[in-house]
Amino acid sequence: MEVTNNYIVIKSHINGSPKESDFETKSEILALSVDLGSNEIIVKNLYVSIDPYQINRMKSKSSSQKASSFAVAVVVGQVIDAYGVGKVLASANPEFEKGDLVVGLITWGEYSVLKGDYMLRKLDPLGFPLSYQVGILGFSGLTAYAGFFEVCKPKKGEKVFVSAASGSVGNLVGQYAKLFGCHVVGCAGSKEKVAFLKEKLGFDDAFNYKEETDLKATLTKYFPDGIDIYFDNVGAEMLEAAVANMKISGRVAVCGVMAEYTDAGKRAAPDMLDVVYKRITIRGFLAADHYNVYEDFISTTVDHLQTGSIQAIEDISTGVDSIPKAFIGLFHGDNIGKKIVKIADE
Ligand SMILES: NC(=O)c1ccc[n+]([C@@H]2O[C@H](COP(=O)([O-])OP(=O)(O)OC[C@H]3O[C@@H](n4cnc5c(N)ncnc54)[C@H](OP(=O)(O)O)[C@@H]3O)[C@@H](O)[C@H]2O)c1
Repeated sequence: MEVTNNYIVIKSHINGSPKESDFETKSEILALSVDLGSNEIIVKNLYVSIDPYQINRMKSKSSSQKASSFAVAVVVGQVIDAYGVGKVLASANPEFEKGDLVVGLITWGEYSVLKGDYMLRKLDPLGFPLSYQVGILGFSGLTAYAGFFEVCKPKKGEKVFVSAASGSVGNLVGQYAKLFGCHVVGCAGSKEKVAFLKEKLGFDDAFNYKEETDLKATLTKYFPDGIDIYFDNVGAEMLEAAVANMKISGRVAVCGVMAEYTDAGKRAAPDMLDVVYKRITIRGFLAADHYNVYEDFISTTVDHLQTGSIQAIEDISTGVDSIPKAFIGLFHGDNIGKKIVKIADE
């Protein structure tokens, strides 16, 4: 049997803000058969993750491309790998059978042909929607959980600040921190998002950073006694303002730098005297280095989901052609919660 596989590619490297004309949809005819004895597997893609880090893979050059196997450069005109959920259509790998649900690195396309070494495992949805595997029970969830508990090492009652707080990772950091007993303030880019954080997710407070002209003074207003933990998703001026407001022995977990990915001229220059004299720890991390907490993360999060104490916030578009717009939207704050593209029904 043959199918047509539509998939997304970049037309050239992207070194600034991505735009729709940077992408195109390509088509190929795919035979749904695999060579016995190969490791090949063909997956029908169901949900794919839309993640900011992909922009760093699309640049002509970025130090990130050499630092992690997940971050290698995307090749112009070639299929783009991405985290997602799918269903096996054909397999020459004895670990997988036709009909298995799988999660791992698939592609921004309708089908994935995986050969050689690939990152894929069978999936038990645990009674939850499949999309959860891409967000709250996937990498976003692990990032928030490991970043908050392992990197920030919180204590009950501590004051936590989260940027990009209505996004996929940020909203979960805020929810975990509240459940743990911290005081949580988030920032986000619209009035609607601020209301969402306070009214729907139970943040103690939130503000729209786009309305503020003096971020240092804003943070002093929300944290008159200082910040214990800053979970940084954006970098740039917000990191500088947070460092200026950290308490002694404060911890900054650098999860990502949204404000810097598309603007190489925007680099945070925190006051290093603050870092020294307040003994602040600023630590970057990658979720992939924290698989040691994976079991804890899943069992804790599943418990919270079952008791209704944590919410899965998702923002789902449909169809492979919607991938470029969904991706570009991350850099304009279009999403609330995890951005996902649903490719097909099971
Ligand atoms: N270290 C890791 O292992 C790891 C894993 C996953 C993600 N990350 C990082 O975590 C961060 C959040 O990722 P995510 O997947 O959860 O994305 P997300 O927060 O769901 O989406 C990105 C959000 O960033 C905000 N944003 C966009 N441009 C901005 C700018 N110039 N300044 C400030 N905020 C901006 C937007 O919200 P507003 O409306 O609030 O502006 C947007 O919704 C990213 O930096 C990502 O690279 C790291």
